Amino acid sequence: MDAPIRTLGIIGAGRLGTVLATLAASAGYRVLVARSGAPEPIARAMAAIGATASSIDAVIDEADAVVLALPLGSYRTLPAQRLRGMLVIDAMNYWWGADGIRPDLNDPRTSTSELVQEFLHGARVVKALGHMGYQDLEDEAKPAGAPGRKAIAIAGDAAGDLAAVSRLVDDMGFDPVIAGPLASGIMLEPGAEAFGADVDAGELRAMLERFEASQRGIVVARARGGTLWER
Ligand SMILES: NC(=O)c1ccc[n+]([C@@H]2O[C@H](COP(=O)([O-])OP(=O)(O)OC[C@H]3O[C@@H](n4cnc5c(N)ncnc54)[C@H](OP(=O)(O)O)[C@@H]3O)[C@@H](O)[C@H]2O)c1
Repeated sequence: MDAPIRTLGIIGAGRLGTVLATLAASAGYRVLVARSGAPEPIARAMAAIGATASSIDAVIDEADAVVLALPLGSYRTLPAQRLRGMLVIDAMNYWWGADGIRPDLNDPRTSTSELVQEFLHGARVVKALGHMGYQDLEDEAKPAGAPGRKAIAIAGDAAGDLAAVSRLVDDMGFDPVIAGPLASGIMLEPGAEAFGADVDAGELRAMLERFEASQRGIVVARARGGTLWER
């Protein structure tokens, strides 16, 4: 399925969620944003950036795709049943300062997006929008073709979903770079060179190509029995 995203839902209204909402609203998307509790406390802030504060249920009901921009350690609070069948863009990373010490979220055998996919059974999870810091996202958005435009990597298993997320990334002001299947999203996590990358498409592709030979890449391959993932 590669239907264009018109209404974008975002779960998590903090630093990342707010910047993504701003970029998507500026690009002409209808944007609905939820936090864990009632939407009223964020209503004015969201209206100011052209988005609408909503409940999580309303976001899921009305959006064509949902971005996860909440602390990764809380992913099991998401309503998995309601998200079945949906395109879900996982922008979350493990960060011990926010998530606590969670060896399950730092296990080289599994990317965190695969854990999210396993929990959100039946959803179509794509990893994107999580390797660049929120301030860089805010500062670096540029129209397609602009010199020095920066890139965002995308990992996912379905070609149509990769295409839909690529369009979103492009509309938000970044060149989309396909990293590979969802399992390859581990190349975008903390500990990998591309985590934090604020670089153009050529440099981002080069970082992804270097992953296999990097220290983290070797650890991941060993933990996975010698093969990074099916290509
Ligand atoms: N900050 C960055 O530069 C950056 C960049 C890339 C990726 N990320 C990733 O994006 C995620 C959010 O980071 P952040 O820096 O934006 O954090 P943040 O500023 O602390 O914001 C987190 C947001 O998530 C909401 N939230 C918390 N628990 C929730 C739940 N169970 N259900 C729904 N919403 C919930 C919080 O609102 P309430 O507590 O009011 O519900 C808050 O709006 C993290 O996984 C992080 O690794 C961050």
